[in-house]
Amino acid sequence: MTHLVLLHAFPVNRHLWDDQVEYLTKAGRRVLTPDVAGFGDSQVPQEATMTALAESVLSPVGQPSVFAGLSMGGYILMEILRLHPEMVSGAVFMDTKASADTEEARAQRLQVADAVLAAGQTRDLADAMLPKLLGETTRSQNAPVVDRVRGWIEAARPEAVATAQRAMADRPDSVHTLRRYEGPALVVWGSEDTISPAADQRVMLDAMPQAVGREIPESGHLSAVEQPSAVNDVLLEVLSDWQ
Ligand code: MLT
Repeated sequence: MTHLVLLHAFPVNRHLWDDQVEYLTKAGRRVLTPDVAGFGDSQVPQEATMTALAESVLSPVGQPSVFAGLSMGGYILMEILRLHPEMVSGAVFMDTKASADTEEARAQRLQVADAVLAAGQTRDLADAMLPKLLGETTRSQNAPVVDRVRGWIEAARPEAVATAQRAMADRPDSVHTLRRYEGPALVVWGSEDTISPAADQRVMLDAMPQAVGREIPESGHLSAVEQPSAVNDVLLEVLSDWQ
């Protein structure tokens, strides 16, 4: 049976997927949730590149698998499609986008990298990012999820944050990579996501005519933790359809 590899967002860690691991494992699926290099229990990579982040998550995988990447995890999945397309038997792009950064966004990332290293902590980053990462519904109605996400961001090492920001700042546009990909694909986004809104999802769906699109209601950018049941159902459905 095909394995499912779940790639987490920035600047959290593999625990973003705890609800999916529990649900899909009970449903008999083999699920891998590697930490992206530097986050969770993993080592900060030598190089601040998307290639280094992609190689770090691929090392425990070992066979062609279905990959689901959320936001930064989606950028990493696009890098895997560039480097090792033979490893991807199905692709789920969640709350992510195919475009490269604008000059302004790139400059902002490099500034955040420097600021976090100088501060030596990620508490201020958590304050700045939580309102953007989480949707209005979660922020107003789901304090436990807000606290969990805050805890993950505060646990991130400044070196990991800086490395990932520098790698993402240099990532290429991936529209051509998605056009070349002919395998099964799903595009999922939160209805309240302002970081990668509907227009970004449309670009990915247009690049992959075979892709199915699914909006997750009452979710911001971190759909896996904001609306876990809806995401679990969507993932189990595609795993059943694609094998
Ligand atoms: C993420 O959730 O991984 C980030 O929003 C990605 C990004 O900074 O572009």
